[in-house]
Amino acid sequence: MRVSDGPPGPGQAEAVARANIALVKYWGKRAPRDPGANFNLPAVGSLSLTLDALSTRTRVRFDPALEADQLRLNGRDEPAAAARISRFLDIVRAAANRHVFAHVDSENNFPTGAGLASSASGFAALAAAATAALGLEPSAAELSALARRGSGSAARSIFGGFVHWHRGERDDGADSFAEPLAPATHWPLRVVVAVTDEAPKATGSTDGMTATQLTSPYFQAWVEGQDADLAEARAAVLARDFDRLADVTEYSCLKMHASAMAARPGVLYWNGATIEGLHAIRGLRAKGLPVCFTIDAGPQVKVVCLPEAEVMACETLLAVPGVKRVIASGLGAGVEVKA
Ligand code: PMV
Repeated sequence: MRVSDGPPGPGQAEAVARANIALVKYWGKRAPRDPGANFNLPAVGSLSLTLDALSTRTRVRFDPALEADQLRLNGRDEPAAAARISRFLDIVRAAANRHVFAHVDSENNFPTGAGLASSASGFAALAAAATAALGLEPSAAELSALARRGSGSAARSIFGGFVHWHRGERDDGADSFAEPLAPATHWPLRVVVAVTDEAPKATGSTDGMTATQLTSPYFQAWVEGQDADLAEARAAVLARDFDRLADVTEYSCLKMHASAMAARPGVLYWNGATIEGLHAIRGLRAKGLPVCFTIDAGPQVKVVCLPEAEVMACETLLAVPGVKRVIASGLGAGVEVKA
């Protein structure tokens, strides 16, 4: 990663990044037993949409007077979560050869840790703000690979619109970064998130993935099908073929969850409202509406649709018992560093 020739960076910077949802999922790491698993080398590539309505704003200030990193999350001091932030900042400090602690102030405009991809927007914003503060000048691919070290899916939130994160082959992860497939303007899809539970999830994505790949008999089949699913989804996006995209999106989602449920003990992220939500969306699709669903490592149902189906998708989901509220979003931009 290039270090600026000029002064050693302003010491502080702010960045905004947005959440993303995967249509073709990331599930599984290349080296689950590796103690350095925070390399987050994925077992598979993935393809996502960046959302405009779910964002994280993060300010980083490196301060020689600090004796430890400090984290404020949504206006509260979070010493317990600071260790993960510190491990990530260590990577940035080593790249810049500057060993100064930082104060990190981060705000999400949506619930944290409930399967709404707060770690993706969070680490994308942190990677951009911390590198800018220390005068590093990463390429977009380098910034994506860096964000991946904080949380795998953060690699994709560096870019807007439709994004493909490459699995990569190298042990150092330098070729495991995301790239834009098409900008948000290419196809103005809408996403409706049905929130069925606001509490942080019981099994984090890393634990869920590790359990799946160590014990699920379906994990290998999941990995083997991924390249075909990615090719299908890429072609569907480029052709703006909604039916084709809907088919592969639901296929990837249900395969990921089926492989997780077949772990021992099974990893189950859904609640009753999640399943009712799936049936409700299938019902709309059977009537010809351009809607499909996906679910991440949590109980929320995420609906992808063409704009004309958005109101119907919102009303249908709000009528499902257990759905607390819906969040509607368009497609958003990549990470932005503020002056
Ligand atoms: O980025 P992580 O480690 O929180 O993993 C994300 C995993 C899924 O959200 C379930 C799938 C994906 O591709 O985003």
